[in-house]
Amino acid sequence: MTPPAPVHVIDHPLVQHKLTLMRQKDLSTSSFRRLLHEISMLMAYEVTRDMPTQLIEIETPLETMQAPVIEGRKTVFVVIMRAGSGFLDGMLEVVPGARVGHIGLYRDPKTLVAVEYYFKMPHNMDERDAIVLDPMLATGNSAVAAVDRLKETKPKSIRFVSLVAAPEGIDNMRRHHPDVPIYTAAIDRGLNEHGYIVPGLGDAGDRLFGTK
Ligand code: URA
Repeated sequence: MTPPAPVHVIDHPLVQHKLTLMRQKDLSTSSFRRLLHEISMLMAYEVTRDMPTQLIEIETPLETMQAPVIEGRKTVFVVIMRAGSGFLDGMLEVVPGARVGHIGLYRDPKTLVAVEYYFKMPHNMDERDAIVLDPMLATGNSAVAAVDRLKETKPKSIRFVSLVAAPEGIDNMRRHHPDVPIYTAAIDRGLNEHGYIVPGLGDAGDRLFGTK
């Protein structure tokens, strides 16, 4: 049996420092947004570490050489709305040629089951590596539903990136999508009775957009 894809905890001190600031309840909306932007740029380095490169011929001031470049247009960032959009701009700064897809899901507050209301991907998904963005991997129901849908478009590969994950969400993803590696800055203790990650950072969408 193939072992499940790894869970990468990005424990770089800069990422951990910024996450600690973001967890604090009195942080302003603008600071939360700026920190999420900064963390997403830093996490992009890890998430894209093994991206394929190709050699092109260039001329330095001294001679011609074969040098590696990333084919950015082959990457698609898949935003799970709405909090995933806070992760997007930082990732795009690092991989500006990437395409962007959106998946709209909301959690039914009673059942915590993910319900889809929007789905839009670029063409030729079979040529692309998909990087799914959702800051909070809580129950994992949205993540599983998003990856279920995404797999229908047959991308070459899928990675899942969260800022904070709960063990329950990781287990759920590994049960349903053992082939999808997970990248996260923290694995927290668990979920409370409302499905929030504890200690967590609260509702990422509300904190990002100032809606509470
Ligand atoms: N979604 C959030 O924004 N926060 C959580 O803790 C869980 C799900």
